[in-house]
Amino acid sequence: MSDQELVAYSTHDDIAVLTVNNPPVNALSPGVPEGIRDGVSKAAADDAIRAVVLIGGGRTFIAGADIKEFGKITSGQKKPDIGFNEILNEVECCAKPVVCAIHGTALGGGLETAMACHYRVAVPDAMVGQPEVKLGIIPGAGGTQRLPRLCGVAKAAEICASGRMVSAKEALDSGIVDKLIEGDLLEGAIAFAREQAATGEPPRRTRDIADRFGNEAEYKMFLQGVRQECAKRVRGMQAPLRNVDAVELAPQLPFMEGLEAEAKIFQECLFSDESKAMIHVFFGQRAVSKVPGIGKETPRLDIKQAAIIGAGTMGGGIAMNYANAGIPVMLKETDQERLDKGVAVIRKNYESSVKKGKLTEEKLEKRMALITPTTTYDGFENADIIVEAVFENMALKKEVFGEIDAIAKPQAILASNTSTLDIDEIAGATKRPESVIGHHFFSPANIMPLIEIVRGKATSDTVIATSMDLAKGLRKTGVLVGNGFGFVGNRMFEQYQRQAQFLLEEGATIEQVDKVLYDWGMAMGPLAVCDLAGIDVGIRVHQENLDHIPEGYRTALVGQKLFDMGRYGQKTGAGWYQYEGRKAIPDPEINALIVKMATEAGIEQREISNQEILERCLYSMVNEGAKLLAEGIALRSVDIDIIYIMGYGFPAFRGGPMKAADLVGLKEVYDRICHYNDQYGQWWKPAPLLKQLAESDATFTQYDYQQAKQA
Ligand code: 3HC
Ligand code: NAI
Repeated sequence: MSDQELVAYSTHDDIAVLTVNNPPVNALSPGVPEGIRDGVSKAAADDAIRAVVLIGGGRTFIAGADIKEFGKITSGQKKPDIGFNEILNEVECCAKPVVCAIHGTALGGGLETAMACHYRVAVPDAMVGQPEVKLGIIPGAGGTQRLPRLCGVAKAAEICASGRMVSAKEALDSGIVDKLIEGDLLEGAIAFAREQAATGEPPRRTRDIADRFGNEAEYKMFLQGVRQECAKRVRGMQAPLRNVDAVELAPQLPFMEGLEAEAKIFQECLFSDESKAMIHVFFGQRAVSKVPGIGKETPRLDIKQAAIIGAGTMGGGIAMNYANAGIPVMLKETDQERLDKGVAVIRKNYESSVKKGKLTEEKLEKRMALITPTTTYDGFENADIIVEAVFENMALKKEVFGEIDAIAKPQAILASNTSTLDIDEIAGATKRPESVIGHHFFSPANIMPLIEIVRGKATSDTVIATSMDLAKGLRKTGVLVGNGFGFVGNRMFEQYQRQAQFLLEEGATIEQVDKVLYDWGMAMGPLAVCDLAGIDVGIRVHQENLDHIPEGYRTALVGQKLFDMGRYGQKTGAGWYQYEGRKAIPDPEINALIVKMATEAGIEQREISNQEILERCLYSMVNEGAKLLAEGIALRSVDIDIIYIMGYGFPAFRGGPMKAADLVGLKEVYDRICHYNDQYGQWWKPAPLLKQLAESDATFTQYDYQQAKQA
């Protein structure tokens, strides 16, 4: 495709129209910036043309730089491209008005292009933003210098540091956009461009606007707040802070010097581990929906009616997901009292959204009306999908699947929300194992964005494809995993929890272990997570799955004791911590209990370094992840990363456990695992795949790539 086609040039009487055609999202791939420059030069040189309109073809304006190019630069395949800034400077210096017409999204380099134009018009549902921070970088084409000139330093810093999308209305109110166009965008933009040309004034260049930065003392105070908030929200992550630094330079430096300073910070960020991790996550989030062997041609089932069994913690949340997506859902419990309780929790959750202004009363009632509470299976014969969310007990699950097999329609999907149990054994309770699949939601199910979709050995492609699409329809990320204890997430999490508890028995305190992981970026420390999820839940899962612990292997001592003491965590006001409401307070009694139990069991107490805590908690997961990959339970290492980021509060800027290991270097990770294997044996046996990759100086990412090539 020639550059001209990437940016088509046409004339509408005295107005030149440049249309970017680079589907799907009009990214600024090589040729697009050059096409814009050539179009603007051509219009500038044509006496019959009085102004230029730049617009996106297809579904959106420009969604930013081509992110694929960044990897080529950091891996040395390609030189950093500094020409884009020059192109935007040329556009801005055009003597004829250049009007940017925005629909869909103008993101990153897209908004930067728009800001280098003299004026911006947008349709009311357009969105703009500088999401670079979500890739671990800062805007690299003038965004941090032009945005504060349009909307002020404070707002620009907040937009860049958060990476959030800004609505067209907000963009208009804050000076980023000049006009909203209600009717046809192109027509409106052409009319606007004509009006600007008719004034006879030189076009307004964003770089020259100097009266919108805001009051220095006020924005400095605001920036301090943004920095503190970033340091708290994304602990250890640098990009949000670097964004604030760059924006703050805008009022301090002449424009061109500001651009140079921005370019320097951009380069530093681009080559950081943080950026490599976040770009991995960006593509990973999209890669997980692609399942080898399942394509567009795989038939899907229509999901028009759902049914859930069990209105407890998970069943209620799952029912909300269906109602939120507009799918009618029946919700069954064993008795009226439990049913009423479950429905009351759902209503309370919706009411809390209404209080926060996230939902209207009308929508609340509409959603409640989509949920039909019941204590019988009446109507289940009409369900296209039945999701079981009863207690984590194999005998009970088999009984329930036997019951639904007898009444469900022939094509219906029969899903289990089990968090650890064998899907094939559950499927064995039916005469249609091809219809049985795991839909493992995460708690709270109405909020957490992940579903592990567990494929049994007989699950049909249609059931898998429908489940993957359904996850999207429920606004979740579905990741396909294989069957086996704990699937991917919980099997690795068990190793993580085990090491956290062993560390306590060997001399670390509860607070120390949690703080190390929290400061590293995890949403919560491992013991605080136990208290949130319920120590009783963990113990029951453990009891249900004793057979997967090898004979004679060390198991954690104290969890069972806490369970016996009735300390289930937040729900009973005490677990590893004591609770005042949801506030965790360290409990010296429990730290003393750990020392006592460990000493009685002959475990030596010692001072444990933060580094050892980090390594043992993380590398134990990585080692298990490598086994899951080799067993084919996880399809790709990036699937594991996305599961951890979406389901377990793993910091995205670390890339997920497998990418974090890649970034440390698999040789180093393998050596440390060997070291712990020498010291402790048992749980530390290195995964053969990890050994193989470490010895060949490879990464998990390369392994994914090789596997995909062979498939
Ligand atoms: N570069 C390369 N590919 C991109 C891309 C980009 N900027 N944005 C999207 N894509 C690809 C996706 O990977 C996906 O590919 P696939 O079909 O092969 O999986 C395809 O385009 C469609 O994307 P989505 O599935 O995400 O489509 P949606 O309609 O759901 O979302 C979107 C559209 C909101 C534009 C979303 O794609 C998005 O947020 N894109 C990234 C935007 C961004 O981060 N821009 C900043 C880039 S960095 C930059 O501009 C630096 C600058 O300062 C110099
Ligand atoms: P829960 O105890 O809160 O709810 C289970 C509900 O099922 C109870 O209300 C019970 O009365 C009901 N029930 C039992 N037998 C029934 C039957 N025959 N018909 C209708 N209802 C019946 O349990 P929770 O936490 O919701 O767990 C449910 C499932 O979800 C389990 O398999 C669990 O492992 C899994 N899970 C739990 C997560 C969590 O964090 N709680 C996370 C992910 C999965």
